[in-house]
Amino acid sequence: MCGIVGAIAQRPVTEILLEGLRRLEYRGYDSAGVAVLTGQQEINRSRAVGKVAALTEKLQDSPVVGNIGIAHTRWATHGIPAEHNAHPHMSNGRVAIVHNGIIENYAELREELKAKGYQFTSDTDTEVIVHLIEMHMTFGLSLPDAVRKAIENLRGAYALGVISADDPDTLIAARQGSPLVLGLGLGETFIGSDIQAMLPVTSRFIYLENGDFCVIKRDSLHIFDLSGKEVTREIKESNAGMCTADMGEYRHFMHKEIFEQPVAVQSTLEGRLGVDNLKHCVTGDNAMDILAVVEEIQIIACGTSYHAGLIASYWLEEMTNIPCSVEVASEFRYRRRPPRDNVLFVTLSQSGETADTLAALEKVKQDGSMLATLTICNVAESSLTRESDLSLMTLAGPEIGVASTKAFTTQLVVLLMLVGLLLQAKGESPETVKAIVENLKKLPILLEQALEKDKAIEHMAEDFIEKHNALFLGRGDQYPVAMEGALKLKEISYIHAEAYPAGELKHGPLALVDNEMPIIAVAPNTGLIEKLKSNLEEVRSRGGKLYLFADKAAAMQADDDCYVIEMPEVPEILAPIVYTIPLQLLSYYTAVFKGTDVDKPRNLAKSVTVE
Ligand code: G6P
Repeated sequence: MCGIVGAIAQRPVTEILLEGLRRLEYRGYDSAGVAVLTGQQEINRSRAVGKVAALTEKLQDSPVVGNIGIAHTRWATHGIPAEHNAHPHMSNGRVAIVHNGIIENYAELREELKAKGYQFTSDTDTEVIVHLIEMHMTFGLSLPDAVRKAIENLRGAYALGVISADDPDTLIAARQGSPLVLGLGLGETFIGSDIQAMLPVTSRFIYLENGDFCVIKRDSLHIFDLSGKEVTREIKESNAGMCTADMGEYRHFMHKEIFEQPVAVQSTLEGRLGVDNLKHCVTGDNAMDILAVVEEIQIIACGTSYHAGLIASYWLEEMTNIPCSVEVASEFRYRRRPPRDNVLFVTLSQSGETADTLAALEKVKQDGSMLATLTICNVAESSLTRESDLSLMTLAGPEIGVASTKAFTTQLVVLLMLVGLLLQAKGESPETVKAIVENLKKLPILLEQALEKDKAIEHMAEDFIEKHNALFLGRGDQYPVAMEGALKLKEISYIHAEAYPAGELKHGPLALVDNEMPIIAVAPNTGLIEKLKSNLEEVRSRGGKLYLFADKAAAMQADDDCYVIEMPEVPEILAPIVYTIPLQLLSYYTAVFKGTDVDKPRNLAKSVTVE
């Protein structure tokens, strides 16, 4: 993870770097640092433990000023969050670097460098890189050549920004595995982990490819590919600066993003629905021809996106009759599976940069085992969209809260659209396609109605303040909804929460039920409601307190031990999307009451670019 930003300009860059870091805090926020080259050609560095605000405060007392610099916000991998482990790391006051990624062979490099007399001041894997660069400069190499040479020794993933007191007019950037983007200004150039970091200063970007190496000066930019050949990369204009990434009237980004869901869903549907069919909205060559011959689907994702995949597998198998498997990327990438024919490989990701998901994609591309690769992603130009044959974008807008909300519901929307597109491509079941289209059109209103439960759920959340554990139950496609509810609660309120398919309760978790254990169930009136009710009775008869989200037709009776929030009537196909909303709100308010850092929960980051 970690966020990096850098700038070379004809004006002081510290403020630009700090604003970049604030916008990258979703990537990590346990410490932050900045290094600039001063007019006296010295590297001036400042680092602080905690969020970027702590660094900003420190800089108010002792500012660092210069026209070229690099900065970093950290998510600790090697070494605890502490000032000595914060980036930028330096070597002999001569070179400074920021790094995002993991150097796998750092331990052996560290020993070699120690034997050569280098003293290490941190526990990070990154510090070997800066000493290697300095060592090569000592042998007479220029800054660019020294960085190139150092990179040859690295195994692992990196996005790097490098400056040196010996070469005050150069900023070096390099990328392998971890994301890195260049921002182009007039007589100034920026680097950042994503475009958000640079939107206040430019709207023109170059997305670097793996293996790219850049020598950036105020008046020139040279990019070299993995083979060392100079290359020209396409410049992309972005209008993302128009989307506001501020909180408006809300106290937290998460609350704002929960309430943005009707609009995010509407944007995702915009222009994609016909009267009774779907527009061909998958980007990539021969998309519909590919969908027409799909015989099996393999979905790969992590975290919340994985739960969206699980829900989709119910839809896909029931409505298209195409077998579908779903697996978390970190498992899939290291597993051998028997070859199968005509498998569509689908990655789901908000960021498009999750390291394990990317590695899984890389693996199937290398072994050529899939019919085609399709990504469902929220970030155009992300690594996943660029590396996949096909893409189907969610148009949720920037999601800032670490806990994913609107990205999840828009993924579900797009996955339902994929169901319809597969049927259309195969010329099957037009009535199912029509039903999908008609239901999707109703969704924004239904989400609005679910959001009207905000106050009631806030009230319910008061019961959770003192709880240490919670069980979430669902059946059928509501089981992954329960999983997502449990994940949200643990992520932001730090309450231990697990989800079970309700029918599995008696095979173990029932032993945990007593009057201290809240049981949350999502209970729309689907074909499985009677089964679910029997499971809930098993809980009640053991003294467990129930918290139910159910529609009127489900006929759940509220009493002292059973709290019921009445949900709007929804078509069965949309229930997983609509019933996600109250679970998001329940976690949100519980976290607010507990006083946790809702948007930046401890130990987590939004974009997980390390394995
Ligand atoms: C992190 C985030 C989650 C997210 C997961 C997958 O764990 O905190 O909110 O669901 O990564 O991210 P992706 O960008 O691939 O959907």
